Amino acid sequence: MEANPSLLDTVGVGDLVLLDPLSEESLLQNLKERFRHQEIYTYIGNVVISVNPYRPLPIYSPQTVEDYRNCNFFALKPHIYAIADDAYRSLRDRDKDQCILITGESGAGKTEASKQVMSYVAAVCGKGEEVNQVKEQLLQSNPVLEAFGNAKTIRNDNSSRFGKYMDVEFDFKGQPLGGVISNYLLEKSRVVRHVKGERNFHIFYQLLAGGSDQLLKELKLKRDCGHYGYLGQEDPSLPGMDDAANFRAVQDAMTVIGFSPAEVRALLEVAAVVLNLGNVRLGSQFQASGIESCSIQDSQAVREICELIGLPESVLEKALCSRTVEAKKEKVVTGLSVAQGCYGRDALAKNIYNRLFNWLVNRINASIKVDSSERRKVMGVLDIYGFEIFQNNSFEQFVINYCNEKLQQVFILMTLKEEQEEYVREGIQWTPVDFFDNSIICSLIEDSKAGILAMLDEECLRPGVVTEETFLAKLNQVCASHKHYESRDTQNAQRITDASLAGPCFRVHHYAGKVTYNVTGFVEKNNDLLFRDLSQAMWKARHELLRSLFPEGDPQKASLRRPPTAGSQFKASIATLMKNLYSKNPNYIRCIKPNNNKEPGVFTDGLVQMQVRYLGLLENVRVRRAGYAYRQGYEPCLERYKMLCKQTWPKWKGGARDGVQALLTDLCIPPVELAYGHTKIFIRTPRTLFDLEDRRRLRMADLASLIQATYRGWRCRTHYQQMRKSQIVISAWFRGQAQKKRFEQMKRSTLLIQAWVRGWKTRKQYKKYFRSGASATLANFIYRRLLQKFFLGLRNNLPPLVVTDRSWPAAPYKFLANTNEELKKIFYPWKCKKYRDRLTPQRKALLQDKLCASELFKDKKTLYTKSLQQSFQGEYLGLQKNPKYRALHTAAEGKLVLADTVRKVNRANGKAVPRLFLLTKNHIILADPKAAQPKTVVSLSDIRSVSVTRFSDGFFVLHLSETSTVGAKGDFLLVSDHLIELITKLHQTLLETTAKTLNLQVADEFSTQFGKSSVAIRIVETAEKNRVAPVCKKKGSHKMEILVH
Ligand SMILES: Nc1ncnc2c1ncn2[C@@H]1O[C@H](COP(=O)(O)OP(=O)(O)O)[C@@H](O)[C@H]1O
Ligand SMILES: [Mg+2]
Repeated sequence: MEANPSLLDTVGVGDLVLLDPLSEESLLQNLKERFRHQEIYTYIGNVVISVNPYRPLPIYSPQTVEDYRNCNFFALKPHIYAIADDAYRSLRDRDKDQCILITGESGAGKTEASKQVMSYVAAVCGKGEEVNQVKEQLLQSNPVLEAFGNAKTIRNDNSSRFGKYMDVEFDFKGQPLGGVISNYLLEKSRVVRHVKGERNFHIFYQLLAGGSDQLLKELKLKRDCGHYGYLGQEDPSLPGMDDAANFRAVQDAMTVIGFSPAEVRALLEVAAVVLNLGNVRLGSQFQASGIESCSIQDSQAVREICELIGLPESVLEKALCSRTVEAKKEKVVTGLSVAQGCYGRDALAKNIYNRLFNWLVNRINASIKVDSSERRKVMGVLDIYGFEIFQNNSFEQFVINYCNEKLQQVFILMTLKEEQEEYVREGIQWTPVDFFDNSIICSLIEDSKAGILAMLDEECLRPGVVTEETFLAKLNQVCASHKHYESRDTQNAQRITDASLAGPCFRVHHYAGKVTYNVTGFVEKNNDLLFRDLSQAMWKARHELLRSLFPEGDPQKASLRRPPTAGSQFKASIATLMKNLYSKNPNYIRCIKPNNNKEPGVFTDGLVQMQVRYLGLLENVRVRRAGYAYRQGYEPCLERYKMLCKQTWPKWKGGARDGVQALLTDLCIPPVELAYGHTKIFIRTPRTLFDLEDRRRLRMADLASLIQATYRGWRCRTHYQQMRKSQIVISAWFRGQAQKKRFEQMKRSTLLIQAWVRGWKTRKQYKKYFRSGASATLANFIYRRLLQKFFLGLRNNLPPLVVTDRSWPAAPYKFLANTNEELKKIFYPWKCKKYRDRLTPQRKALLQDKLCASELFKDKKTLYTKSLQQSFQGEYLGLQKNPKYRALHTAAEGKLVLADTVRKVNRANGKAVPRLFLLTKNHIILADPKAAQPKTVVSLSDIRSVSVTRFSDGFFVLHLSETSTVGAKGDFLLVSDHLIELITKLHQTLLETTAKTLNLQVADEFSTQFGKSSVAIRIVETAEKNRVAPVCKKKGSHKMEILVH
């Protein structure tokens, strides 16, 4: 087997399986060596051996808890935490109910071990307010139960005087939910009696030391322990134990568990009653009949008890001193002897205390019990009294040792026998290891026919005189040949003389050693009789708690059936316990006591050797060595490790065995490590198992990551899809809504428009019928009437159609002013048009000439206004009619435009001579009136320009172009009486024939060309009206003045 370094590194070997050579000697040496180095824990596989150090060691710190938490069993130094952790993890992860069996002699450290296991589990099993409360309640049940159930013995200052099995219940996550405590056989005889050097139960001393004066007074107690008969006379104080402080701790613990102050008070009152009972002294007195009977010697104790429990003194007194016997349906009261009275008193005290203790356990259970019905995982912790061998061993030691014998049987069955049987069953090659099977001792005690307990019961129930002697005789008779039974009788039969075995004793060869039991008291203790008078008296008390402890005291329920004997009760409860233990996965802590004196650091070889022997440790190591550390059915094994191999993950199709084989082969586990049984796989070393577990943990972490990732992905995806869906729904809804809104709006608008239009139409249609429209109609009517009147008036009073008349009637109303103005503007051009339309062509031509004249002269020449009245006749000479002018007429060639007489101003002297002036379409012809022959003919094209004065004279200059032949003499200075007409005609003719306008100059000074020289002509206005104008005066050769008016 390959060694685990952590197990080798320590002092000696941490696991006895590794011990080499293996012998009792070496095993003992190893334990001793380790103990010397304060290594108190040693393994045999997964069994922990603990050697009591009797001194506090620094190995239970929170740091140590952390170190061992989730660490593999063999990875660290051996420790009780490792087994606690292993058990807890098995429970949590593999769903296997666990039990932790702590065995060992009294004082070996079982109770301490159980507390350490509990505190470790409490430290690692989840957190939270609720969980912490449960944990607290579970942990705090300890000090309470210890106060009432533990006592100082010679072996142990804090010896458990009851057996305790606690089931802690967990939920599927491994969080504690609560628990159930079972208690076994309290050593109640201690209430009334204890060996010198020991003490009564702690609670009495705690109460007296720690109770306040007030409390003690109320409980009718005195602080002095020596005052109480049951507490013994010796000094009760214990080194290292502060009773007063412990009392406070117990009270606090009860509060944590959930005891009400009233309950605590009642509990202490009952305890006080027990103490006081011990002080009830009975003395003898003689009755009238001369028979001796007992009576209360000192009534104070009885009075105090009765005051406490609310019972008339006389009732208790009577119950203590007499007894009612029913014979043939007749009740006979007989007085008790002093011995009987004392017996009754002590029996009452023991019973009250025992029942109080049971009540206490039930009360704690009520607080810590689990309400939910969900499936729970259970971890049981068994801390039961250890094997006891005293000087004088009585019934209590007998049952205690029987219990230990049964536990050893569990151990043997589950580790040695069962294991070996399993190898054979599974077809694993196996060399059997011999070990001692203690079932023979168990049956010696418990056999229902020939067992010691059965015989004791038989004796107790037998009619007739029953004494211990008859019981012993019966034992000697039935068990004479039993290998494990001895007595004076059997020794005598074998002719052995053994002084150590006294007369009233028998000896049993227990697995842990030979124990001699004194039969004195066996029958009485087994009967466990309490006179009915006493239980009835208790039932009559007003004290609720006390009363409830004695239900059989109720006369209504009185039964004549005997209660089951103590022995058979114990046997039954042990049987239940065994059944319970067998149903769970066991974890062993085997406690060893290194010396008998509670001394630290002392290792008594002989003592330890004895324990090692009877605990069967050597055999345990042998079996363990030869065997396999771990086994598991193929199915669960495959299920647990299938993820480590591709072939088996996620599902193996074939059989489980093949699957496991494929899996382990794939993992390259050496074949020597494995054995394939019929239904289970066996793994030799824990190391392989841990290796598998480690791989599994890693793989599980990977798988968990994968699941997480997949899950997260899935969650994100669904979340996204959900969001998307929602978004679509929202947007669809939104769009729909928007469209609806829009539609509604449009509809509203349409309706509005429709309504408006309809309204408008209707209004229009009906407007006339509306009174409100009347004014408009009226106004309109009036308006039209006015217009009509206005127009009609105009028609009738139109101004005369004379174009010169520009008059227009004024508008009758202001609002017609614009219209009137417009009409006026229209009317005048219309009148003119009418006028024009009526003109004859001649008149029209004349007017056109006039118009032309106005364009040329209006506002330029004063003469123009004078010419207005004159009509343009053109022909002033009568050329046609006058034959004198024939030549001229001919010269005009029918193109004559104008013929008149003008005066020609002499250029030289300014004197004017008449000339005939003819204007034709092409020429200007000047002729002498007398000759009437054309004298000068000027082509129209030769006329450069014409100059006239501003005044009302007829003077004008014809400026000729220098190129013309006529012009050689110079420009013509002419005077016409019809100047306006002449120039107008000239202009028109010029325009007509040459398409040139006449260059007309209206000025007061202008130059003319006289031959080659130019002459400046100045116009001078004169006032001489009578003189014929114009008068031309030559002023030098280059100047000429024209006088005009
Ligand atoms: N692991 C330990 N470390 C220190 N002292 C211990 C340890 N185990 C036991 N003891 C001492 O031994 C005494 C007896 O132990 P206890 O558990 O009451 O024995 P048991 O229950 O087996 O009768 C304790 O009061 C304590 O002083
Ligand atoms: Mg104990």
